[in-house]
Amino acid sequence: MIDASTKRTAEHEINPLFVRRWSPRAMSGEVVSNAEMMQLFEAARWAPSSFNEQEWRYVFAVRDSEHWNTLFDLLVEANQAWCKDASHLLLIASRRKFTRNDNDNAVHSFDTGTSFQNLALQGAEMGLVVHGMGGFDAQAARDTLKIPAVYAVDAMAAIGRPGPLENLPEGYQKMEAPTDRKKVTEFISEGSFPFE
Ligand SMILES: Cc1cc2nc3c(=O)[nH]c(=O)nc-3n(C[C@H](O)[C@H](O)[C@H](O)COP(=O)(O)O)c2cc1C
Repeated sequence: MIDASTKRTAEHEINPLFVRRWSPRAMSGEVVSNAEMMQLFEAARWAPSSFNEQEWRYVFAVRDSEHWNTLFDLLVEANQAWCKDASHLLLIASRRKFTRNDNDNAVHSFDTGTSFQNLALQGAEMGLVVHGMGGFDAQAARDTLKIPAVYAVDAMAAIGRPGPLENLPEGYQKMEAPTDRKKVTEFISEGSFPFE
């Protein structure tokens, strides 16, 4: 796996883990151990959330298990093409209402995204592939997994051990490189909202 920190430059001094984390697609098909997966979920656990609601939920499936196809079949074909070599697939959902008073929680997906980023950074630290995905059928996920209406279906993710480029379909081989970012000055503004 490419060390993204050798391809990316931070404008300001930060922990190198932030630029080392990226979303590769090439995986080996080896299984990530349950103990390692628990380390990822432990990192997810410590995310901040509104009123400490901890509204994120992760459904996982490990390859070659009876649950694998349930999650794999939700993915669009373009994602199935490289997720075939993943170790685990995740379906990520968030509770839309606070458990304490049943009020709407406007930031449920914000909190859950934070939790996923914790998981992704832990994965990067451990040399694992962690790759978020929006390319899946959320309604089919709701129907198949019988996800109650109070939960939003947010995203899926693939987790695996890094693998050779040749495991990827040709089109994806060319895309297997860390992306760059906007400059900080393009997304911050003091006191006004100048963004189009
Ligand atoms: C919520 C979310 C959904 C994404 N959906 C997909 C997807 O369906 N398929 C895919 O190949 N990559 C997907 N990505 C990966 C992004 O394209 C990637 O994170 C982005 O280009 C930034 O690159 P980096 O993660 O390597 O830094 C998704 C990422 C996130 C966070």
